[in-house]
Amino acid sequence: MALAPANDRWANWVLSQRDGGDRARACATRDAVAAQARRLLALAGLTPGSMLADIGCGEGLLSWEALSMTAGALRVALSDVSPRLLRRARAFARLCGHAARCRFSLADATRLGHLPDSSIDIAALRAVLAYVDDKPAALREAWRVLRPGGRLALAEPVFQDEALAAAELQHALQLGAATDPVLPLLLRWKAAQFPTDAVSMARNAACSCNERDLLRLVRQTGFDRVHLELHIDLQPAPACDWETFIARAPHPLAPSLAEILHQRFDADERVRFERALRPQVESGRLQADDRTVYLVARKPG
Ligand SMILES: C[S@@+](CC[C@H](N)C(=O)[O-])C[C@H]1O[C@@H](n2cnc3c(N)ncnc32)[C@H](O)[C@@H]1O
Repeated sequence: MALAPANDRWANWVLSQRDGGDRARACATRDAVAAQARRLLALAGLTPGSMLADIGCGEGLLSWEALSMTAGALRVALSDVSPRLLRRARAFARLCGHAARCRFSLADATRLGHLPDSSIDIAALRAVLAYVDDKPAALREAWRVLRPGGRLALAEPVFQDEALAAAELQHALQLGAATDPVLPLLLRWKAAQFPTDAVSMARNAACSCNERDLLRLVRQTGFDRVHLELHIDLQPAPACDWETFIARAPHPLAPSLAEILHQRFDADERVRFERALRPQVESGRLQADDRTVYLVARKPG
């Protein structure tokens, strides 16, 4: 994985495409991320005085929650591949008086050269491993930097079901079992964001792994005392204006709907697609499915 990609797609997604540029939505997302981080850190048994590695820290939300849970009695090593997100995290730490407790490093999760062996109490990744191609290498690196008895803490989105749903729709259309004329357009939207065949699924970092694959990889790395929780929330999405909706992408490796409509649909298809979907989006009749796996494990020692 190259560091500092030219247009920093990670920062583009976190700061714009995740919430379609909508401020209220971005605040709600940050609250949800903070709640996930607190849950994960509690599962990992975070205590004051710990040394925490926030790997793929983004804006640093997990670190700020950790510092607040320990009343500031913590040292944190924050790292990320996105220079822009790392700069934001550093600026926030200065603003909030956390700077003396934090170290910032531009580093890939598979090469944490800034961290010595056995130097970390908790190695946390929230919504990071899902996007790493070489997941075993990232887990080996977490293992290396953890002290014996230290804990790995993961909270990761699981996208495989979205890919399988797109594959199912493709299959139904191929068999002629789905006849609504808008379904082929819906499939082109979903297939641009999620792989629809087994080979592309295996090659797609975000969709190659479900919660049981993650469990297997963690155990193969050598971790023990593994605790895994799969949280599934299937609920109606809040009503959303169309411009915000199309500006969003479901994960950092996927194009936004606006990009898909612009690049892959002709004018007539765009009109038909919008006519079918916009009323559902704007009246909150779409589903918002969320699947998150929490996994905590110990490096034996
Ligand atoms: C969805 S964001 C999550 C950010 C943060 N962990 C949080 O909870 O808010 C994914 C983060 O993973 C980072 N990332 C992606 N691939 C990475 C890699 N190979 N190594 C380290 N960080 C990576 C991105 O730059 C981005 O900050």
